[in-house]
Amino acid sequence: MALLEIQLLGAKVLRERAAPVGEITDATRQLVRDMFDTMYDAEGIGLAAPQVGIPERILVVDVADEDETRHVHALVNPVITRSSRDTGKEVEGCLSIPGIEESVTRPVRVTVEGLSPDGEPVRLEAEGLLARALQHEVDHLDGVLFVDRVSPLKRGILLRKWRKSRASR
Ligand code: NI
Repeated sequence: MALLEIQLLGAKVLRERAAPVGEITDATRQLVRDMFDTMYDAEGIGLAAPQVGIPERILVVDVADEDETRHVHALVNPVITRSSRDTGKEVEGCLSIPGIEESVTRPVRVTVEGLSPDGEPVRLEAEGLLARALQHEVDHLDGVLFVDRVSPLKRGILLRKWRKSRASR
């Protein structure tokens, strides 16, 4: 088991657009395993490669439904190909901004297409928490954080709270 260092808000890599993975190799699969280890260790439900300092389009999620069905996925080069018109608002957090939470409005259902770590095409029809987690992680691949998706007023409050919590360390 290998734990990777989680990059925190302020790290440049979190604000860059991650590059598509050209060829899936053993190194890609090792990275995916390490990302799962790191996510579980931090008790998160999703993680994107830029969050561990790797600017590549890779994400992992492990989300449980209300009926406790688990959805464990690793996606390479994921693309949201459909988004529902109806939206929902739920509280989100992020391993890169620990201690900060806020409600974010997002489409309730999405279709996400990409590749598995074995290079097989994957197509996920997701709703609820899985849909939300996938959108949050795909955002990371574009350098977008959940605090970008709240009102400027709320963002200001969250960022002040974040800076204060960092300063007291
Ligand atoms: Ni996040």
